[in-house]
Amino acid sequence: MPTAAATIRPYRPGDDAALMRVCLETGAAGRDASHLLTEPDLLSHVYLRPYLALAPELASVVAVGDEPPVGYVLGALDTRAFEAATEARVWPALRARYPLDSFPSDSFDALLVHLVHHPIEASDELVAEYPSHLHIDLLPQVQRGGYGRRLIDRLLGQLSERGSTGVHLGTSEANTNAIAFYRHLGFDQWGPSGHGSVTMVRRLPVT
Ligand SMILES: CC(C)(COP(=O)(O)OP(=O)(O)OC[C@H]1O[C@@H](n2cnc3c(N)ncnc32)[C@H](O)[C@@H]1OP(=O)(O)O)[C@@H](O)C(=O)NCCC(=O)NCCS
Repeated sequence: MPTAAATIRPYRPGDDAALMRVCLETGAAGRDASHLLTEPDLLSHVYLRPYLALAPELASVVAVGDEPPVGYVLGALDTRAFEAATEARVWPALRARYPLDSFPSDSFDALLVHLVHHPIEASDELVAEYPSHLHIDLLPQVQRGGYGRRLIDRLLGQLSERGSTGVHLGTSEANTNAIAFYRHLGFDQWGPSGHGSVTMVRRLPVT
């Protein structure tokens, strides 16, 4: 794909299938998770679809013309409010669809189903300073072309305009590329690593 021709635009509902593919193909610490899952949609159920449903105005995609998008950034302005909204409007249907014993206990599917039943809550200390959070994923053909930086800049601008004072995100300790990218963009690590994951944070300017 000629990356020079790709542009960034707001998410629209017809993008969902392509974005679910991006989520799956970057879901194993930045690499393709297709071979790790029996139920490929589970990653999107946890890390993509709640944002498209509850905060579509903060979702942006990278695409070439009218072709399906090949990357996205997603955000939640107020993490606590987002947690409450997912508890009310997202998790109940998924819990009914995927009971806790749906998959073998040592599988990646089971880990994601566990997150549906027991979502991780951000700590009070974290949301006090960094109330917003984000997710970003690009397929390999558009990585290292400047789109990640532009997607992050765009989202941080939107969060800042809406009054957020800071943003956080979680990533796998194994995703050394993403950690280097975030550090390069001015994010710092928050606290120690835990359970193989790292929290990165960045303050936002008051506008
Ligand atoms: C991580 C990711 C979002 C970065 O986006 P990207 O489009 O590849 O990065 P960009 O080309 O916009 O890079 C922006 C800057 O970061 C730097 N950078 C990017 N990756 C880097 C790395 N691995 N090490 C050091 N610097 C890096 C670039 O050199 C660039 O610097 P500059 O703007 O000063 O010239 C993207 O590669 C990706 O989606 N990877 C797979 C999925 C993933 O890991 N998502 C994050 C999960 S938490």
